Amino acid sequence: MNSEKTKIAVLGGTGNIGKGMILRLALQNLMEDGVKNEVVIGSRTPETAQEAAKEALEELENCGFDTSDIKITGESNTEAAKEADLIVLTIRFGHVPSLLESIREDLENKIIISPVVPMVKAGPIFEYRPPEEGSAAQAIQARVPESTKVVAAFHNVAARKLQDIVKCKAVHDSIICSDDEEAKKTVMKLTENMGCLKPLDGGPLSNANTVEALTPLLINIAKLNGLKDLGINFS
Ligand SMILES: NC(=O)c1ccc[n+]([C@@H]2O[C@H](COP(=O)([O-])OP(=O)(O)OC[C@H]3O[C@@H](n4cnc5c(N)ncnc54)[C@H](OP(=O)(O)O)[C@@H]3O)[C@@H](O)[C@H]2O)c1
Repeated sequence: MNSEKTKIAVLGGTGNIGKGMILRLALQNLMEDGVKNEVVIGSRTPETAQEAAKEALEELENCGFDTSDIKITGESNTEAAKEADLIVLTIRFGHVPSLLESIREDLENKIIISPVVPMVKAGPIFEYRPPEEGSAAQAIQARVPESTKVVAAFHNVAARKLQDIVKCKAVHDSIICSDDEEAKKTVMKLTENMGCLKPLDGGPLSNANTVEALTPLLINIAKLNGLKDLGINFS
């Protein structure tokens, strides 16, 4: 990390999971042991990202939080990636290869967090469809410079739960996989301070396919049983 505050880019942060992630990351600045950070939202259009940043700050204020120590800004995905120490890829799997190609030169030595789950709707249910590399996380690792550390995390949390910063204190487990132990530790600390997730070491990146595959299972179980926003707990 190159500054006292970690600069975190959430690419595609204007979407469902990005919105909750941004609020939870920003709130870490108010915690004694949180990871002090600046959040930059990435979008295909900078104006959309800037609007999302304004809305996120308003949401925090409306929920009663003091935002004087919180910085959330918006940029194009490419600018956001350039500025960041750590990048969260909150876009759908089909969009990942072209986005990675456009930011590749700005990824050296950085951490990329992937919550990406490659899945398709097959009739009434969702099916996991991993790429030939084995998982979305491994497909990402294959497309970034060797010095980039990919960490798979946050696959099994519902966007609505992340967004509900007032009511949702329920702790689900978040399994975190990486081949880089230092990067995994950094992401586990971020996760612990999100207020609704308990990080669990899931081993190397080759385990990410098992974790990604749990997401369509959770969605299918919710749908078939009239439940909502399920997560996992291993206790
Ligand atoms: N939703 C969940 O509960 C959840 C839970 C766990 C994991 N995930 C994973 O998180 C990722 C994001 O899910 P999501 O539901 O947040 O997605 P989403 O809301 O459908 O999309 C996220 C963002 O992707 C950007 N986008 C759309 N088309 C694009 C394109 N052609 N190229 C580049 N960017 C594009 C859009 O941002 P701009 O228009 O601003 O560019 C959009 O706001 C997925 O991989 C999903 O598997 C989601």
